[in-house]
This record gives sequence, structure tokens and C-alpha cells, in this order.
Amino acid sequence: MRLRRCAIVHLEPRERLVFDLALLGDGGNGLRNVIEWIALAPHLDDEVTLSADAAQTLGALSPSEWRELDDLHVAHPPAAVDALRDAGLLLTEDSAQAARDERVRATRWRGTSAVMHYASRWRGVDTKDAEQRFTELSEGSLLDALGAAPPPVRERSAAGQRQSLLRPQSSALDALLARRVTCRNFDTAQALTLEQFSTVLFRAFGARAVHDYAPGVQLLKKGVPSAGGLHATECYLLVQRIDGIAPGAYHYHPIDHALEPIRTLSADEAAALASRFVAGQQYFISAPVLVMPTSRFERNFWKYRNHAKAYRALILDVGHLSQTLYLAATELGLAAFVTAAINEVDIEQAFGLDPLEEGPLAVCGFGYRGAERNEVEFDPSHAIWPAPCNRP
Ligand SMILES: Cc1cc2nc3c(=O)[nH]c(=O)nc-3n(C[C@H](O)[C@H](O)[C@H](O)COP(=O)(O)O)c2cc1C
Repeated sequence: MRLRRCAIVHLEPRERLVFDLALLGDGGNGLRNVIEWIALAPHLDDEVTLSADAAQTLGALSPSEWRELDDLHVAHPPAAVDALRDAGLLLTEDSAQAARDERVRATRWRGTSAVMHYASRWRGVDTKDAEQRFTELSEGSLLDALGAAPPPVRERSAAGQRQSLLRPQSSALDALLARRVTCRNFDTAQALTLEQFSTVLFRAFGARAVHDYAPGVQLLKKGVPSAGGLHATECYLLVQRIDGIAPGAYHYHPIDHALEPIRTLSADEAAALASRFVAGQQYFISAPVLVMPTSRFERNFWKYRNHAKAYRALILDVGHLSQTLYLAATELGLAAFVTAAINEVDIEQAFGLDPLEEGPLAVCGFGYRGAERNEVEFDPSHAIWPAPCNRP
């Protein structure tokens, strides 16, 4: 049996507090610090805790050379070798885990970026629970616990030394930007028309031209910029209330400007999925449609191989898409949101995505804004709401 180490793994020495009854006797608080090695590897679903021996052995194993298990048992502490095998960090040739690791290699991830992406995905997180725990922990309001924020501007010179710039003449773009206010009060009844839905989707995600750049290399021209012109962001949709489109999960085809059905859902199923996708943020669930911009790693990394900036570029691409979606919706008198507090794993599973191929980085949504503001919206200039509201 031949084995080798996985391609990408990072070790983090992490401190954990454990409760120890014996320590209470000495008048202490019963808490003890434990420092552990945590292994973070993109081909595994979860992080793994390693013994010091296993961590040291991991650092001595080759990720390229297959070696016989008997040889490894002679060269390293056998218990550490076995622990690494059990953890899925030392991979048996032709195993399912070795195949996953092969996919990571073939995708040409930069190690640090891969660890950041896969270690930051959520599964089944409910932000209400997390907020509640934070408030309980801090025994007061969030603001009491956080204290004053750093100032909004990093001032580098005294006011009198600044060179004033010209304010623009108010334009249609200014008016549009002013009305872009993140919506947390969707009209829960009103559906979008097919025309509204199609228009926003086309302006944010649709391809305006297809360019045959070279044999086997097609680039898209869209309304948004994209690293390398690759537009490696797919658009998945959870439709709840759009005239003429059954509630369900869809993929958007940006060249054909068409929906590809993945599965239909009942209204209740769609709402339950929406809640999971946005990690329980109730105010986003009632949007008529949720839009999941999802990065296709292989396409970007085809050009930016093992590149320090590639993952960052994918995140930036999603930022451009979401702002364009906001503006396209706002122009139609609709309202939009974007959130990064999402359960990526739940989204992947609902759409049948392999996380080694594609990863959702945000959830957006749009629809009619409701008549009443029950949830906070940040509108200090009263572009939408007449009454003041100070908190974002
Ligand atoms: C990257 C990103 C992540 C965000 N995540 C959340 C979120 O998790 N929950 C939320 O309610 N709003 C979220 N927002 C919306 C911001 O709270 C909102 O943009 C901010 O309060 C300013 O309000 P405005 O968009 O109306 O100007 C996010 C915005 C961005 C750009």
C-alpha cells in the first residue's frame, strides 16, 4: 500500500479553554488552557486536531512521492503515521480521498487562498444564535462590548491643507446611487414580473458579447469588469415569487440569457432553503428571489495558476456583480441586498455543487420594498424613508 501527504495543509497552533473540576479546589475559575495543532486542508470537510507527534510527522512527509506504509512506519512514529492516515492527511493511492486531493492539485489553488476559502465556509449556522451568544457573553449590548469604532476617515493632513475637489453636477447616476439602500423590509406578497427579473439579471450577469480570444478560450463581455475577462462567477437562483417562473432552484445561462432548472420547490421548501442560505437573517428570506454568485475556481486558476492574487480577484468580481445588481434593481424602483453571512455548504448541497469546483461567496436578492420599515435600513439622507434611522 503506497501513501503520500495531501497537497495543501496548514497547521494552526490554537488555544482552547477547558473546564477542569480539579482546578476549582484551589480557588481558581476551573479553566485551563490547552494548546493544540489544528490541521486545515481543503480536501477535507472539517478541520482536524493533531497530536504534537502527528504534526511533526506531517511536516516530514512528501506530498509528491508515494511511499510504502511499511517504510513510513519505520521512518516515523507508527502511531503518528496511522493518526495522519485516519485524519485523511496521509492518503492511500487510489482512495476516494486521494482523488479529492488530486482535484485540489488539478485546480491549481494557491495554498493560503484554498485554506482561507475552505476554512471560512459555514454549514447550518444561524446568525441569530451567534448574535445572542455574543450579547450574553458580553453581558450587554453589542455596542457596549465593542466600544468606540475607529474614525471613518484616516486623516493625513489638517483641514486647511487639503486641496478641495469639485463636487459633480447632480446626474442620473447620482440619483440612482442615492436611492441604493440595502433592503431589509421586502414586500412579502408582491411578486416580480418576468420583465423586472430578466432585466436585473441581464444587467448584472448577462453576457453582452462572446469573444473567441484563442482556440479553446472564450471570453465574455459583461456590464461588470472581471479578472482576466474570464467571468468565472456563475449565478444560481432560488426563485420564490416571480410571475411565470415556478418556485425552485435554477442556474442562469449568461450567454443564452436563460434559466436552467435544477429543481422545483414548494413555497415552504423555498422559504426554508432561503433561511438556511442566509444563515437565518429573517429580513432577507422574503425577497422574491435570492441570487448566489458562485466562483468557478478552475476557470480563473486556468490563467492565474497557483497565484497569490487569484482568489482575491474572484472575491472582487463578486463585489462588482452585487453592486451592479443593486443598481439595476434600484433603477427599476426595486430594492436589493447582499450578505456575506451565508451557509456556503448548504447552498452547495442544494444546488449539487462540488465545493472543489464552485463556491458561493455571497447571497444577493431583490424585490419590492415593503411599505413599513420594521427592520433597520441605513438611510441617513432619507432617500427612501422619511423618518430618521441611525443604525446601519
Ligand atoms: C460584503 C458585504 C457583506 C454584507 N453582509 C451583510 C450581512 O451579513 N447582513 C446584513 O444585514 N447586511 C449585510 N451587508 C449590507 C451592509 O450592512 C450595508 O451595505 C451597509 O449597512 C450600508 O448600507 P447601504 O448598503 O444601504 O448603504 C453587507 C454588505 C457587503 C458589501
